[in-house]
Amino acid sequence: MVDTKATLSIKGESDSAIDLDIRSGTVGPSVVDIAPLSKNGYFTFDPGFVATASCESKITYIDGDAGTLLHRGYPIEQLAEKSDYLEVCYLLLNGELPNREEKEAFDRTVRYHTMLNDNIADFYRGFRYDAHPMAMMCATVGAMSSFYHDSLDINDPESRQVATFRLISKMPTLAAMSYKHSIGQPSMYPRNELDYAENFLHMMFGNPCEETNVNPILADAMDKIFILHADHEQNASTSTVRLAGSSGANPFACIAAGIATLWGPSHGGANEAVLRMLGEIGDISNVEAAVKRAKDKDDAFRLMGFGHRVYKNFDPRAKVLKKSCDQVLGELGINDPLLDIARKLEEIALEDSYFIDKKLYPNVDFYSGIILQALGIPLSMFTVIFAIGRTVGWIAHWNEMLSEPYKIGRPRQLYTGHAIRDYRDIEQR
Ligand code: CMC
Repeated sequence: MVDTKATLSIKGESDSAIDLDIRSGTVGPSVVDIAPLSKNGYFTFDPGFVATASCESKITYIDGDAGTLLHRGYPIEQLAEKSDYLEVCYLLLNGELPNREEKEAFDRTVRYHTMLNDNIADFYRGFRYDAHPMAMMCATVGAMSSFYHDSLDINDPESRQVATFRLISKMPTLAAMSYKHSIGQPSMYPRNELDYAENFLHMMFGNPCEETNVNPILADAMDKIFILHADHEQNASTSTVRLAGSSGANPFACIAAGIATLWGPSHGGANEAVLRMLGEIGDISNVEAAVKRAKDKDDAFRLMGFGHRVYKNFDPRAKVLKKSCDQVLGELGINDPLLDIARKLEEIALEDSYFIDKKLYPNVDFYSGIILQALGIPLSMFTVIFAIGRTVGWIAHWNEMLSEPYKIGRPRQLYTGHAIRDYRDIEQR
């Protein structure tokens, strides 16, 4: 909705004024539509997209100051408490919560597409035994485009839907295969009578020699982790998926690009980094020294799991996970010394003026690693779990973009290199 206009006056040789529309969303900051600037010979400059809305979206809303996260209007706390992961997937993809029949049909379709083309197993044989599971995920998800040719037509909504189900259904299978490869065990076939999280845990921890019994406490916690990672509006990996998709790339290639971006320690790789950091701190007595290092400008060390580009308050997902962490560890009777270090770190950091002034609060990754460790998930699989949960968010955004008229994403630049100059022969350099 165009609300009002802003006028940009440019002072100089020929003073000029450019009228720009200001557009309002349902909630949240309005945006200045700067498209007319390029016709007047200007670009905007915003490295890191700190103040730039790259698209219009109806999927997820974050109020970083209030610490609010809504999926299609529903608060994440309510979804984490009352919903399940596949219902959240339905909501993100379709805009509304499903009725009973819609939910059953959706669940059934996901359950019956979990198996992979058997030749995909050959890819895993080509990876070194110690390959990082995220490396295997990037490669094998990208390689799905060489198997599922009938779901590559991005202009056909039905083909997009088939790709959507294939990706959501098969991600846990691929993820568990990555893990099994790294420990030298045979992969497990999915079991369609199990729900999404149970099936993943069965494929992770089962073996062909005996029946798997998945602990329901673990399955519930896993499902909650998937819900909490399902979407987070225009973050780095989602923006990557949109950008890749804007060129017309196929869905499997786009999601592989999202996985690659998620891997970085500033993004999804942070959950792995948090656990490594807690391990390095090693003891409550070292926490103060770690906080001191994090504040030191000359030291590259940061408190992993703290800070967020958008949240300038508690990450609501961290609040849910903190509660869930106490519950899971309590129910399993686990006394994890890393949790004591994490609690102390949080306590000290939240009282420290450096963290208060910069509004650095615990983010989702601060507690997710501790729960994942309690579930028996190895460190190298933490970001893979994030990728499984986030797949639906990536797809929802990709599909939203393709459902409306869109342009290829093509940012501009402020060029500060050489102006034109003549080539010099090698002897003259
Ligand atoms: N520890 C210490 N100082 C920090 C931290 C931290 N974790 N995070 C930010 N700062 C400082 C930073 O040094 C800078 O100080 P100054 O203004 O004096 O230069 C200031 O706070 C602003 O930081 P920034 O890097 O400019 O902020 P950003 O919005 O570009 O970065 C972030 C956000 C998440 C990359 C960053 O806070 C960070 O590196 N955190 C640790 C990694 C982490 O936990 N990432 C997970 C993010 S949540 C999950 C996800 O979305 O994937």
